[in-house]
Amino acid sequence: MARINANYQKLPGSYLFSEIARRVAAFHEEHPGANIIRLGIGDVTQPLPRACIEAMHKAVDEMAEKETFRGYGPEQGYAFLREAILQHNYTSRGIALSADEIFVSDGSKSDCGNIQEIFSVDNRIAIADPVYPVYLDTNVMAGRTGSLGSNGRFSGVTYLPCTDENDFAPMLPKERVDMIYLCSPNNPTGTTLSREELAKWVAYARENASVILFDAAYAAYITEEDVPRSIYEIEGAKDVAIEFRSFSKTAGFTGTRCGYTVVPKTVAGRGAEGETVPLHGLWNRRHTTKFNGTPYIVQRGAAAIYTEEGQRQVRETIAYYMENARLIREGLQKVGLTAYGGVNAPYIWLKTPTPSWDFFDRLLGEAHVVGTPGAGFGPCGENYFRLTSFGDREQTKEAMERICRCF
Ligand code: MLT
Repeated sequence: MARINANYQKLPGSYLFSEIARRVAAFHEEHPGANIIRLGIGDVTQPLPRACIEAMHKAVDEMAEKETFRGYGPEQGYAFLREAILQHNYTSRGIALSADEIFVSDGSKSDCGNIQEIFSVDNRIAIADPVYPVYLDTNVMAGRTGSLGSNGRFSGVTYLPCTDENDFAPMLPKERVDMIYLCSPNNPTGTTLSREELAKWVAYARENASVILFDAAYAAYITEEDVPRSIYEIEGAKDVAIEFRSFSKTAGFTGTRCGYTVVPKTVAGRGAEGETVPLHGLWNRRHTTKFNGTPYIVQRGAAAIYTEEGQRQVRETIAYYMENARLIREGLQKVGLTAYGGVNAPYIWLKTPTPSWDFFDRLLGEAHVVGTPGAGFGPCGENYFRLTSFGDREQTKEAMERICRCF
C-alpha cells in the first residue's frame, strides 16, 4: 500500500470554511424554511464590472477565429496584463519593479499556499495569530510545523499574537525566523499595518536574512491615504519581500479566478552550499512546471479593470461594500458590541461575549446569520468573530436588524 503524506494527519478537522459550510448545511436541513444570510466566507455578491464583461466577451470572440485563437499562453501571464498591473499598482506609486517580476496566477490563495514549496522544510515560519488558515495549513502539509499541542499551537511555529491589546499589530519575534507571513489589510481582523510597523518588519527581515510573504489581497479596500498599499512602499523591502495580490475582492473575481505574485529579482535565499539563490528563478521554475497560465479570457477581463471605466466601476463596487462595512460596524456598536476593522478592509472583527463557536451557533440559531468564529483563525481569535461586508445591501441591513434584536 502506498504510504501517505502523514503531515496531512496533523491537520485539525477540516478547512475552516468547509466546516462552516457543513454546519450551515446541517442547520438548513433541520430548518428548511429559515432564510439564512451568509456573512461568513468572504465571497463577493456584486457582478463583475461591465468593463471586464465586455473585454471577456471580446476575448471569447477572438477564440472563435483561427487568426486570433489562443492556446497555451505564457505561464507567467500575458504582457498586456503584467504591464497594466505594473503601471497601475507599482510605477504610479513610485515603486520600481519590472513586469517580469509579476507572476499572474489563478488567485492569491493558491500562491500563498504554494510559495512555501520553494523553501526548505527546516525553515522556521512566523505567522500572526489569528491568521488566514492557508498559511499555516500549507506549512503543516509540507512538514514544517512540528506537531499540534493541546494549546492549539504547533510546536515548530512562531506565533505572533494579535489582539486588541496590541492593536492587532504583531510584535517582532524573540527568536530568529526564516519566513514571515504578514497580511495587511488583515484577514480576519480588518486592521492594517502602518508604515512604521512595516518598516520594523523589513528591518528585521534584512537583519535576520528572513523573507516576508506579504499578502495584500485586500489592498484595494484601503481608504486612508497614509496606509501602505504595497510592502514595496517601504525602503529595502524589494530585497526581502514577496507580495501577493488578488482580483477576487478587488473586482469580483472569486469565481473567475485571477491573482498575481510579485517576486523581485533581488529577494534571495540560501542554497545547500551556503550560496545565495534568487527566489525569482525558483518561483519561475515552479510556476512553469506546475501551472499552465490563467485563461486568456480571464486575463483580458482582469486587464480591463485598469481602463478608465474599469477603474470607475471597481471604485463603485468597493464603495458599495465599504458602506456595508459601515452599517455592520455601527450596528454592532449600537448594541454595545466592540468592533474593529471595516475602515480599510471588508472585514469587521467583533468581540464576542461567549466563546466564538457558541456565538456562531447562537447567531445561526437565533438570527439565521452566518459569520466566521474567530477561534477558526487561531487560539488568539477566541472570543472574536468575523463578519464580511461582501453581502448584498438589503441582506446586510436585514442581518444587522436580526443581530441587533438578538442582543
Ligand atoms: C475568507 O473568507 O477568508 C476568504 O474568502 C477566503 C479566501 O480568500 O480564500
